[in-house]
Amino acid sequence: MSNLIVPASGPVTRRSFFSTSTKFAAGAAALSTLPVERFVHGASPGDTIKIALVGMGGRGSGAADQALSTGESVKLVAVADVHKDRMDGSLAQLGSKHKNKVQVKDENKFMGFDAYKKAIAQADLVILATPPGFRPMQFEEAVRQGKHVFMEKPVCVDVAGYKKVIAAAAEAKKKNLKVGVGLQRHHQLGYLETMKRLHDGELGEIQAMRAYWNGNTPWVKTRASLEQQYGRKLTELEYQMRNWYYFVWVCGDHICEQHIHNLDVINWVKRGHPVKARGNGGCETRKGPDYGEIFDHHVVEFTYEDGSVCFSQCRHQLGCWNDVSEHAIGTKGVCNISGHTIRGEKSWRFRDDAKKAKNPYQQEHDDLFAAIRNDTPYNEAEYGANSSMTSVLGRMATYSGKEITWDKALESNLDTMVKGIDQVPWEQAIRLTPPSVPGSDGMYKLAVPGKTTFG
Ligand SMILES: NC(=O)c1ccc[n+]([C@@H]2O[C@H](COP(=O)([O-])OP(=O)(O)OC[C@H]3O[C@@H](n4cnc5c(N)ncnc54)[C@H](O)[C@@H]3O)[C@@H](O)[C@H]2O)c1
Repeated sequence: MSNLIVPASGPVTRRSFFSTSTKFAAGAAALSTLPVERFVHGASPGDTIKIALVGMGGRGSGAADQALSTGESVKLVAVADVHKDRMDGSLAQLGSKHKNKVQVKDENKFMGFDAYKKAIAQADLVILATPPGFRPMQFEEAVRQGKHVFMEKPVCVDVAGYKKVIAAAAEAKKKNLKVGVGLQRHHQLGYLETMKRLHDGELGEIQAMRAYWNGNTPWVKTRASLEQQYGRKLTELEYQMRNWYYFVWVCGDHICEQHIHNLDVINWVKRGHPVKARGNGGCETRKGPDYGEIFDHHVVEFTYEDGSVCFSQCRHQLGCWNDVSEHAIGTKGVCNISGHTIRGEKSWRFRDDAKKAKNPYQQEHDDLFAAIRNDTPYNEAEYGANSSMTSVLGRMATYSGKEITWDKALESNLDTMVKGIDQVPWEQAIRLTPPSVPGSDGMYKLAVPGKTTFG
């Protein structure tokens, strides 16, 4: 752990933010022995907001592009990744689109599992877009260093991570840091208009909901193709880092990685999180050593505090019916939330006649940067954490086959992260043993409902 200066808790004004930021920058510079430039932003549109990007894959590059598109006075000054090819590709892509705004000196390109700390130290705002297992430690560090954050969903993949994010979210509030979470439906006009009607009671009492992410396998990096690319054998951890989608400690399973979007919408409808879950799941069709330890389907029934129930499905199987959507059934009608329509006593359909709806990926950055510039409250971390934990709860229910309450899940303290991974140099870290390793047949053990414990 570092000896960074931690400011006293309590609300911070925009002016005092400048000074605490300066102290942080100084502390961080001492820590990393890196020079930190002036650290001023906020009040006037002309003040430059300096960004660091941690995790330079598809979404990280997209998020950085959107952040750089929020206005003229934004620049990318530091980056961090664990794979040089991803860093080079992302910088080339961003540099070609935002020539003058990508100003990353060589000494501000950081590699390795601890690179995030050094990149965060250079910036006013950090974009966290690694695989989600790393999010809690990185978010905690960003808040500790007093930086604004945009972090991708999910924000955790286990209970220990959830608790870390909830604690850091509260600390961020005290420090007046702005935090955006990549659950972009909250910034999508059609969803906002629909949700307003549901919250205004136009559907009556909402008694049941449905949520789906049924689709195909997103991508896979086979061990054979990776070893060909590297020209050598990979350590198990190196392999799992490249093929991260299929391992719980980094990805959380697809119920966390994708289905969170739909579960988050249902939590938004209910303005809370479920109190219990029960479900079924398994891996029927997507079998093989390169598909790791995750299931290819989960079917979960989530119960909310008021007794209403959400029936949820997510599936990665080829040749089946596909659907990504959310629905609500109330005493006065039914709503296709993702389709932005209501049928019932007050039928309605969202129409964007004024063409006001922006791409939600851009809108979420516009909203976050406006909050930073105008110093308005902005903290999406708590609902982001609750939606992420809803997915974790669902996975615990399908893996164990048990009915699990929210409270029991939290008691479990499930912690899947590889211990000390960001405390040792890369060469040592890639020799650490991940939680799941293949057997002699190359296959990973999957959870067995009825036998696997959820904690
Ligand atoms: N909001 C959305 O609609 C949306 C869409 C796509 C992805 N995402 C989320 O974005 C995140 C990233 O997804 P992606 O598709 O960009 O994945 P990706 O594999 O393309 O990118 C991940 C990047 O992180 C790097 N990385 C891995 N571990 C790291 C570490 N410890 N420190 C620094 N860098 C590290 C990788 O090398 C890679 O460059 C995921 O959480 C995903 O769920 C959100």
